[in-house]
Amino acid sequence: MDRARPARVLRRSCWAALAGLVLTGAAAPLAVLHPARWLAPGADPVGPLTTTFAECARPPTDPQAAWLFEVGRAAFRTPELLGGQAARAGIACESCHQAGRRNPDFFFPHLSGAPGTADVTTALFSSHRDDGIDNPKPIPDLSGPKSALKVPQDANSPALAKFIRGQITEEFDGAEPPPAVLAGLAAYVRSLDPVACPRPPREPLRVADQVDDARRAIRTAQGALERHDSPTAVVMIEGARWRLGLIDERYSGPGLADAREALRSADVDLASALAAVRTGDPGAGVRLDLWLARSRSWAPQLSREEPRSLFNPAQVARLSNAPVPPNPEAR
Ligand code: HEC
Repeated sequence: MDRARPARVLRRSCWAALAGLVLTGAAAPLAVLHPARWLAPGADPVGPLTTTFAECARPPTDPQAAWLFEVGRAAFRTPELLGGQAARAGIACESCHQAGRRNPDFFFPHLSGAPGTADVTTALFSSHRDDGIDNPKPIPDLSGPKSALKVPQDANSPALAKFIRGQITEEFDGAEPPPAVLAGLAAYVRSLDPVACPRPPREPLRVADQVDDARRAIRTAQGALERHDSPTAVVMIEGARWRLGLIDERYSGPGLADAREALRSADVDLASALAAVRTGDPGAGVRLDLWLARSRSWAPQLSREEPRSLFNPAQVARLSNAPVPPNPEAR
């Protein structure tokens, strides 16, 4: 990712400053993976890094509501939405609320107590809400029964959007989100429903699903452009680029140069589409169409090479010196 590289190098150096160069749970070679950076010391990284909660969402059917849901779903997975240290460290809503649930393995130095907890009122992330007290709380499962959650999610009540706005602008020092992004996040959180939870609750993390997330974000950006909502399109494209970066870091091993090259050129294409959206260039939508069309050729290549990437538990186990899981080739 040529153009993204400076940003990623910057993120890495801020992370190093933040964590005092101390790697936590993951073995050093695994620290190329962002999610490895918030694992507890001594934690076995294989399960947390190669599986994910399955999503428990019930998307609405009305086209406008379905678009807002997609806006929220992509924003939920985009660190640029949050500000300050969280964004620089690559933390998004999904880092704590994996697939809209919780994250029992989340451990961030100076922020977490036990794994799965976070103090969201700390100076580390917030210049507004630092209460001066070390009080990490369990990360709630946003896909649990609504009755177990504190913030009312009634569609007629502004409480949820107000809470999320406070999280972004105060807890995480982020900029004011575009109105559709805020409404989308509330719509996404509302759509999470224990009745929609697939069985089993966890599933392998697959490159095809990650590519699909990037494509969904780009289709949603196209919807934003149709609605003349460039600020929302920008957040969506940033989300897709972030997803490509998360894929790229898993293809850092030997023999994967072609996959990395394909990802880099896909990212360059997105970077120019993003510049076109920002400057109001009417050709931006065509660039996104082209990107989606081209993704049909590189996505299967990534899937073919997935066994050699860090999507494969055996490769993660090898790097972490953890026991190789049985029958890794079955993935
Ligand atoms: C660093 C971890 C972390 C991140 C990042 C994070 N949250 Fe949370 N979230 C928490 C914790 C911990 C709580 C519980 C706080 C409490 O009980 O005071 C919480 C609470 C919530 C709640 C209220 C749940 C209830 O009981 O009603 C919602 C909704 C929510 N988060 C959504 C989000 C969204 C949307 C984002 C991204 C904009 C986000 N969270 C980012 C850790 C996080």
